[in-house]
Amino acid sequence: MDRILVVDDESSMRLGLTEVLERAGFAVTAVDSGAAALDALAARRHALVLSDMRMPGMTGGQLLAAVRARHPSVPMVMMTAYGTVEDAVSAMKSGAREFLTKPFSPQEVLHVVRALLAEGAGHTSGSPDEPAAPPSAESPGNVAAARPIVSRSAAMTRVLQVAEAVSGSRSAVLIAGESGTGKELLARYIHEVGPRRQQQFVAVNCAALPRELLESELFGHERGAFTGAIGRKLGKFELAHRGTILLDEISEMEPVLQAKLLRVLQEHEVDRLGGSRPVQIDARVIATTNRNLRDMVAAGTFRRDLYYRLHVVPLTLPPLRSRSEEIDALVDHFVARFAAGRDLALDAEARARLRGYGWPGNVRELEHVVERALLLSNGPLIRASDLQLDEEPVPATPAEVAMSLAGRTVHEVERQLIFETLERTNNNRSHAARMLGISVRTLRNKLAEYRACGTMQASLS
Ligand SMILES: Nc1ncnc2c1ncn2[C@@H]1O[C@H](COP(=O)(O)OP(=O)(O)OP(=O)(O)O)[C@@H](O)[C@H]1O
Ligand SMILES: [Mg+2]
Repeated sequence: MDRILVVDDESSMRLGLTEVLERAGFAVTAVDSGAAALDALAARRHALVLSDMRMPGMTGGQLLAAVRARHPSVPMVMMTAYGTVEDAVSAMKSGAREFLTKPFSPQEVLHVVRALLAEGAGHTSGSPDEPAAPPSAESPGNVAAARPIVSRSAAMTRVLQVAEAVSGSRSAVLIAGESGTGKELLARYIHEVGPRRQQQFVAVNCAALPRELLESELFGHERGAFTGAIGRKLGKFELAHRGTILLDEISEMEPVLQAKLLRVLQEHEVDRLGGSRPVQIDARVIATTNRNLRDMVAAGTFRRDLYYRLHVVPLTLPPLRSRSEEIDALVDHFVARFAAGRDLALDAEARARLRGYGWPGNVRELEHVVERALLLSNGPLIRASDLQLDEEPVPATPAEVAMSLAGRTVHEVERQLIFETLERTNNNRSHAARMLGISVRTLRNKLAEYRACGTMQASLS
């Protein structure tokens, strides 16, 4: 019988976990500190350690380091608090095999514990102890290497670090970001750099199908489950078993299906439509959204409990306009892809224009603009006139702007910036606010302020 070591300073957690694990047939040692845990490990063999992250005295992180040094073959699962992605990331980077975000259900603990013990039993080499392979690392011959993700900004680098750190976990990931920011690319990346890369990556767009179809697409159906269900069909969850399932545009999933998805996340089993018994599933769920799910929860259109389940590892891809330092590198990336061996380059003016553009369609729009420019260009040099951008480009280069700005007050420059942006967007305030990187409300307040100033000046003169 496998013995599990539970480490938590809270007695209710120790009691609860002991009960759940013992009922499932494990032997349990429960202790309240890192020091006691090391004593217990020295005294007898344990198959796995389940430890809290935040404890007085030795922290979970310190215990993790000590266990990795003294008992490297014993897998460790860290329990982290909701909302502390930092804890989860640092645990995985320091060699934890998995993390559980509190509060979790008994099924989740058992799922993780059983999966890790099964992996350990199946391996003779130490391979499961290896951290997730870095993106460019050799990948097995039958699997494509992870697609490159261009990143030059601090924000993107951070997103990729978290993505890599959690790639080895089973935990759900929620990727938020405007359309075209690279959500699907990031989801594939997480799959491809993690231990599931040998298995299927299955993508389902939740906005593309009416509810009934989406339901049978996700969960599958038995023959005759409904009119038209001719044969038995495997659901995408089953196809993604041991792999990854991408639920694209999760915000568009109807409440009935949200409830079913919650069950899959909590209990790791799915019910085929018309099926008589649930099927065990180990699919890593990655969801994407370009709407603000938190607002939808507040409005009652998205289930709060599902939101918390998905939000365990939240990743946000910033819009391209807020990481313009990446534009040059992205342009080079796409030129290399679309030039197909031709020797092509952009001239300085073309590059400046791309840097100054607002990119409402984000990286996808940039990709298309580069592709089109390469198709339209005659010679090896692509000029600004070959670019087809949806709105007028910013006329001046950043250096010119900086020169003309010195000597003016911040207030003046801000005011001019706001009015010019409004002009360029035909007075579309939400578009202008987006380009300015401020909220519509802030924009409205600023305009009211300028109006008030204007009337005051008028009455003084
Ligand atoms: N950082 C990046 N480096 C290289 N290519 C990128 C990057 N970000 C996005 N792309 C490319 O831009 C295109 C759009 O990306 P993707 O489809 O992942 O966006 P998305 O956020 O899923 O968009 P939507 O919300 O519209 O579905 C893809 O061709 C993708 O390969
Ligand atoms: Mg997408």
